[in-house]
Amino acid sequence: MSSTHPTDSENTEEIKGLNQEFSFLDQTLRPSRFNEYIGQETIKKNLKILLQAAQERSHPPEHILFYGPPGLGKTTLAHLIANEMGCQVKSTSGPAIEKVGDLASVLTNLAPGDVLFIDEIHRLNKMIEEVLYPAMESGVLDIIIGKGPSARTIQLDLPPFTLIAATTRVALLSSPLRSRFSGGTFRLEFYTTEEIEKIVKRSADILGIALSDGAAHEIARRSRATPRTANYLLKRARDFAQVNKGDLSPQYVAQALGLLEIDELGLTALDRKILEVIIEKFNGGPVGLSTIAAALSEEVATVEEVNEPYLMQLGLLERTPRGRVATPRAYEHMGFDIPETQ
Ligand code: ADE
Repeated sequence: MSSTHPTDSENTEEIKGLNQEFSFLDQTLRPSRFNEYIGQETIKKNLKILLQAAQERSHPPEHILFYGPPGLGKTTLAHLIANEMGCQVKSTSGPAIEKVGDLASVLTNLAPGDVLFIDEIHRLNKMIEEVLYPAMESGVLDIIIGKGPSARTIQLDLPPFTLIAATTRVALLSSPLRSRFSGGTFRLEFYTTEEIEKIVKRSADILGIALSDGAAHEIARRSRATPRTANYLLKRARDFAQVNKGDLSPQYVAQALGLLEIDELGLTALDRKILEVIIEKFNGGPVGLSTIAAALSEEVATVEEVNEPYLMQLGLLERTPRGRVATPRAYEHMGFDIPETQ
């Protein structure tokens, strides 16, 4: 992973000691109520109605699916919903549920009204999905006891609960699973620069960092329109200013972020390498995703889930049926002449 900002998986497992600090800070920066949460206005409006209606009926809200690129607030919204409802969240993830028994144990440990949060739900295997369907739809757990002709099914009643699932790859969910999110399926959008400015100012307040409007703007426009990246850049800029005994002026922020190889559009070194490979090695495309990833010794999933959504949002990359294509804007940004054919 050579991208300069942390991803979902890095946040949890890999660099244990470092991440304890990282996730602790992350927790304190996460908004826990609707009135603290900046952006995603349409989603918030829909969720407020869903929650109020459920509360008025004294029943947990129906199951909810969030999807979109990493760092936009899927996990934050799941915790926020539980907080607004005054209930507990039990968190797990698709890859952590390896066996049917793992899911059975999670489900039978729920208390009435709990939120069950499953991150990376696209990584649940089919057999486990089959157990999840009746749990979501009818609140029962079907358990098969024994094997062969003497096998029998027993049914356990589960407490009423709300499943909130998150994924960066909604297209990988089977349609029966998708259709069971009766509370709604919500796509998180990239944030506007103004929204990110508000988010970093709020974070700076919480962390006790004095941040001018200009410095907040400088961070926001390089943040990939993503709150997690913005908060990461804020902390790195603060470190840079502290070590160099400077203040957090826009010029210092620009220098700090330049040192992290993040350019004025927010592109990381890996984003730029992807564009460079398409332009230089493959004449601007079309070229297959796996070829690009192999040329850079990167994971296909990283390129597809982390880099491409933002490159497409900026209009630097297009996905076509024949492969990825660099746009004239990408040529311009990377300092190449635009070929006649473009
Ligand atoms: N921190 C991270 N995401 C946020 C958001 N959407 N609003 C406020 N603070 C945040």
